[in-house]
Amino acid sequence: MERISRVLIDEEKIAKRVAELGKQIEQDYAGKCPVVVAILKGSIIFYGDLVRKINLPMRFDTMAVSSYGSGTVSSGNVKIKKDLSKDINGEDVLLIEDIIDSGNTMKALTALLEHRGAKSIKVCSFLDKPSRRTADFEADYVGYSIPDEFVIGYGLDYDEKYRNLPYVGVLEITD
Ligand code: IMP
Ligand code: MG
Repeated sequence: MERISRVLIDEEKIAKRVAELGKQIEQDYAGKCPVVVAILKGSIIFYGDLVRKINLPMRFDTMAVSSYGSGTVSSGNVKIKKDLSKDINGEDVLLIEDIIDSGNTMKALTALLEHRGAKSIKVCSFLDKPSRRTADFEADYVGYSIPDEFVIGYGLDYDEKYRNLPYVGVLEITD
């Protein structure tokens, strides 16, 4: 059994913060043409809203990954389910993620892309749960830091559901 117990971040707040992030990224990448990578599937909604707030030339790409769970993190700890469509050697890469939890996925993925010769790698995550961190990883841009609660909506799922909700809600799961 599951139910949305409350709205954590409403549509208006999301739009305001996404616009701020876009402006900041636009300033930081001025004069560059970054490869902006959507980490599927959770970041799709955030990605679509964010890139439209960044007035810069850019290239789109996507990746789908899953982390092998906790434990020691190395570049071998990320399973690539769908890879980039083009080589990123020498490119400025900006990864767009839905949420950083343990940090394992992004720590492993950034290590892998560094190994492939990216010129720079930064991560922009819509949400962050810093209290859950086990890996030594921090995103360069974060929309909202949230407490340790399971959230859904604005791309985030529970069992592949709720991604299309326009707000972020807290999901209460009982059995
Ligand atoms: P981690 O940082 O390697 O632990 O993995 C982060 C991933 O876990 C995210 O990309 C989400 O797919 C998933 N995740 C973590 N917390 C939540 C949550 O509260 N709701 C939905 N998905 C979550
Ligand atoms: Mg995910």
